[in-house]
Amino acid sequence: MEVEKVFHMNGGVGDTSYHLNSSLQKNAAERINELAIEAMEQTYSALRPKSLGIADLGCSSASNALRYIKMAVESLMGPDTKTSEFRVCLNDLPTNDFNTLFKTLPDFYQDLKKGDNNPPVLVAAYPGSFYGRLFPHKSLHFVFSFCAMQWLSRIPPGIYDDQGRPLNRESVYITKNSPPQVIDAYAKQFAEDFWAFLEGRAVEVVSGGRMALLIAGRKTSDYFSLDKTFLWENLHQSFFTLVSKGKIEKEMVESYDVHFYEPCKQEIQDIVTKEGSFELERFEFVETEIDLSFSGAVMAKAVRAVQQSMMSHHFGEGIMDDLFDEYGKLLDKEMDTKNFKVIHIAVVLRKL
Ligand SMILES: C[S@@+](CC[C@H](N)C(=O)[O-])C[C@H]1O[C@@H](n2cnc3c(N)ncnc32)[C@H](O)[C@@H]1O
Repeated sequence: MEVEKVFHMNGGVGDTSYHLNSSLQKNAAERINELAIEAMEQTYSALRPKSLGIADLGCSSASNALRYIKMAVESLMGPDTKTSEFRVCLNDLPTNDFNTLFKTLPDFYQDLKKGDNNPPVLVAAYPGSFYGRLFPHKSLHFVFSFCAMQWLSRIPPGIYDDQGRPLNRESVYITKNSPPQVIDAYAKQFAEDFWAFLEGRAVEVVSGGRMALLIAGRKTSDYFSLDKTFLWENLHQSFFTLVSKGKIEKEMVESYDVHFYEPCKQEIQDIVTKEGSFELERFEFVETEIDLSFSGAVMAKAVRAVQQSMMSHHFGEGIMDDLFDEYGKLLDKEMDTKNFKVIHIAVVLRKL
């Protein structure tokens, strides 16, 4: 399956949309407001470009994207601004619902801080994978990408044997049931993708420019902590409930795996150092407690908004309501007895 042609957040503004079900991502991003603004201001005071290029990579269709842009632009507007225009580049895969995003642009322009002499904010969309080239040579001063780079460019080929049979039959991602080759294949795919991401941005970001990245990650090298396996194990269990009800075939579940990987600090550091175009300036863990008011059903909807496109491509649209009902019920039971957190890694990288 070609991820680029299938994967997208649920579009529109309806009940199952990413727009209405992305508060986890919004909360995590808000935790690094300060870090991102500080990095922007440092970049701005060192470079003071006439035409400032900012990009949001993996922006999706929700209001989150323009909220981040507004914060970034407003932090630089003011009487001292030497910039005569802000060029804002919104990127996501071609399958993204850019129209829903564009429809919010008039409100975005209206909400921007008014002031004498504020420079124009010019927004453009750049559909394509951030694992390849996207923008013109040395056109960007600041890049951010929030909650996007844990999504790999493909399902790692190494999770299948030579005959194309799945090796990770008892799970949809890395869990205690996964054979070691599966873990290696996921880690290798992440390393390859992250390297390609840095190589692409190395051409596009000016020297002294910065990137602030927020990536779902692991706090230690352990793959199997509750926080890391909780959602996947329950999702797998929900698939098996549908198998036992005769709604899907067991083989379909055994051959389903996600194109997702959560790196740890060492992996990020090693790749940044070896690729060599950026310096790692800041590294922080961002822990977001799951709000106790979140029911299993709310959590299931948050996962559905992100994963439905890939799942319905594999299993068919018809099982989605049943699947996420089961998932919500299972999560309700688990969340009654256990607390868990979502962990992200925040990094600031400076272009050498
Ligand atoms: C969970 S959403 C995060 C959206 C937004 N940044 C936020 O904070 O709410 C992840 C986004 O990354 C996008 N994405 C994943 N892989 C991508 C790739 N290779 N190139 C561009 N966008 C990608 C997805 O399509 C999706 O819109």
